Amino acid sequence: MFLRTCWYVAALAHEVTRFLPLARQLLGDRVVLFRTLDGEAVALEDRCPHRYAPLSAGKVGENGISCGYHGMSFDRHGVCVANPTQPGERISPRAQVRAYPLVERHGVLWIWMGEASQADPSRIPAYTYYDAPGWSAETAYLHVSANYLLLVDNLLDLTHINFVHGDVLGSPDRAAGMISRTDITDTGVVERWFSPDAPPVPAWQGIVNAPWMSGNVDFWMDMYWEPASNMMLDVGITPAGTDRSAGTGIMNMDCVTPETATSTHYFYGTALKASPGDQSTIAFWMRAEAYAFDQDKRMIEAVQGNMGEAWDILAMDTVINKGDRAALHARRTLRKLIAAQNETQGDASLALTA
Ligand code: FES
Ligand SMILES: [Fe+2]
Repeated sequence: MFLRTCWYVAALAHEVTRFLPLARQLLGDRVVLFRTLDGEAVALEDRCPHRYAPLSAGKVGENGISCGYHGMSFDRHGVCVANPTQPGERISPRAQVRAYPLVERHGVLWIWMGEASQADPSRIPAYTYYDAPGWSAETAYLHVSANYLLLVDNLLDLTHINFVHGDVLGSPDRAAGMISRTDITDTGVVERWFSPDAPPVPAWQGIVNAPWMSGNVDFWMDMYWEPASNMMLDVGITPAGTDRSAGTGIMNMDCVTPETATSTHYFYGTALKASPGDQSTIAFWMRAEAYAFDQDKRMIEAVQGNMGEAWDILAMDTVINKGDRAALHARRTLRKLIAAQNETQGDASLALTA
């Protein structure tokens, strides 16, 4: 069951072009993404109303997107504006497809999957580091064959870092010394983990070249979550016992968008304060993250394999650890929001679970 009344990332901005339409399933809906000739990104239902051909198999042109089967063209609003097999004839008013509100911001495309009139761009989460002056950023995409909430769980449960990523982002021997705090906020939850006075973990050793790296450091990770599944990790290290401003850190985008009940689009990125050598530093982090997130992908897909088609951990008899607090809060929050959404809209078709 998905929350539709919120913004999701549909694509990285550079994935969507004027030339090749991008087919992407989002919350079970088949969507086509493309740019009009003036560069505006558009999201339409990927099903031609004539014979249900996927519009993503068509072409982008001056009339919007034209279907590859019989050439009907649809503009950015999803309205048919040309029907070349019946020149001069009136176009049926039924010849239209659903247009989804889509906003390009922070280097990604945000889509509203609910009722279009409710789409409020001011509710788009603020990943301001991804397009702010004085910052450099890069983004990437990963497909995961598991329910999106297993990724939310994973990202909010930072205890896994010392085990799943024990060779790159953590180390098993520091697990017992981690200090945590869960802050419930007006918009979501912040899960904070702090590893004080310990040697830097491997990834930081690989990129930070400072005299203080030979001693112990304080290592912080603050994960911010907003419904349904947009997260940001503020992570960094600083000489042991000093303020964060004495050290170095990055802001990680972690946005997951359901594809189906058992598959997910994972959009991630790195942003850091602009300085000489940005590109090599960002390239390092993107490589490290690709490596680490492949570790997550393999673990989470194996978990989904053991769960079968199930996805609702709240309804299962699992053991609960302290590290699950934030994830459980997120799941309970979502459950309430989805119940409220379905009550308001009274539409059983919104129950898109599997
Ligand atoms: S199926 Fe699209 S124009 Fe015929
Ligand atoms: Fe991870």
